[in-house]
Order: sequence, then C-alpha cells, then structure tokens
Amino acid sequence: MIITLDGPAGAGKSSAARALAARLGWCYMDTGAMYRAVALIALDRSVPLDDATRVAMLADSLAIAFRDGRVFVGDRDVSTEIRTARVTSATRPVADAPPVREVMKQMQRRIAAGIDVVTEGRDQGSEVFPDAEVKVFLTASPVERALRRHREETARGVPLSLDDVLDAQNRRDEGDRTRPVGAMHPAADAVLVETDGLTPEEVVDRLVRLIEARRRPRHA
Ligand code: C5P
Repeated sequence: MIITLDGPAGAGKSSAARALAARLGWCYMDTGAMYRAVALIALDRSVPLDDATRVAMLADSLAIAFRDGRVFVGDRDVSTEIRTARVTSATRPVADAPPVREVMKQMQRRIAAGIDVVTEGRDQGSEVFPDAEVKVFLTASPVERALRRHREETARGVPLSLDDVLDAQNRRDEGDRTRPVGAMHPAADAVLVETDGLTPEEVVDRLVRLIEARRRPRHA
C-alpha cells in the first residue's frame, strides 16, 4: 500500500511522514532527500547544474537508498551533507529540470514497488503515484509555517527575522507551484489536512484514522 504526503515546506510533512511510517512499520521515502542527494553528487563531480541532460544521466546512475532512517548514495551516508545551505540551493535547478524529474519518478516507483510505503514530497500523489490508496496534502498557514521555521533557525543560532523567513518561504512556494513539470498541487483525490494548531502527534493520529477508514471494506 502507498500513502502519499505532499505539501509545502514547513507544513510538518517530514515529521508526520517519518512518525506515521514508524507507527505503521512501513518504509518512509523522503523524495526531497533524493533530489538533494542528486544535487550533492552533481556538486561533488562538478556537473553543471543547468545541464539537465547530464544531471539526469548522473541521477540515473546513482543507487539512492533509505536504510535505518538514513539516506545513502551507494555506501555513502549523505544524510547530513544534503541539509547544508549549499546543497539546498543547488537542489532547486536540479528539481526544476524535467529530464531529472522523469528519472526520479521511475526511481521512486522502483523503490516503492511491492512494499508498504509512506512517501513524502511535492508531486507524489499528483504525478508519481496517481493510484496511491491514500493521498494527503498537508498544509499550514504561511504565518504558522514561518513561525515554525523561525523557531528552528533561532534554536540553531541563526539570526533571521520573521520577515526574512516569510520572504524566503514565499519564494520557495512560488518556485514549487510554478515549475513546468512536477509543480506542487494537491491531487484531485487528495485529502487536505491543515496542521495549524495541531501537535505532530495529533497530525499522525489524523492520518492513521484516514488510512483505517480507507482500509475498511466500503459496504461492511
Ligand atoms: O522537501 P525538501 O526541502 O527536502 O525538498 C528539497 C527540494 O526538492 C525542494 O526544492 C523541493 O521543491 C524539491 N522537491 C521536488 N519534488 C519532490 C520533493 C522535493 O521537486 N517530490
């Protein structure tokens, strides 16, 4: 069974997807981490990020895998490196390139084949797994998302104003919504879950209820 969890950055997708997968005993596929891993290796190997064909060939040659909550490219654990600001900004052109998205779509389908998986991203319900049994689009108000990010950055000692965080978030959302292929939007049959005011635990409870409702025979 496949459950897709899409939505904008800061809606609480990652923590919800991770916790949901752990509670169900399913695999968790973080597709943002996969795009980040491609960007990291492109930087390492000096592949020009604007050369979509070369980046797509590179992506196709990589063995990206998830083990014990970590992301690997081959035997290399890239979980920490893919979160640096340098990789985050390199990921944008990589994720915008249609040939790269095609390669990643096939890779994501191969990883999910035959297993129970919670997959998280922007286009999982709309493009990659149109037949997923449960599709969720997680949202939160822009201010709530910015406040969460601001709290995280402040805790890490990064001096950013709330306005700076909101501006960056608006730019990211705009980029996610308007990329020519794989633009972020809820699938027509996705359930919208608004996470304002909910704890991560409450979000997961709600998702579990959705899955249980979907699993019950319709005319029982
Ligand atoms: O979610 P995260 O911030 O890790 O995503 C990293 C980058 O990958 C973002 O630029 C996001 O737009 C992109 N992405 C994507 N499609 C996905 C998942 C992430 O384009 N399915």
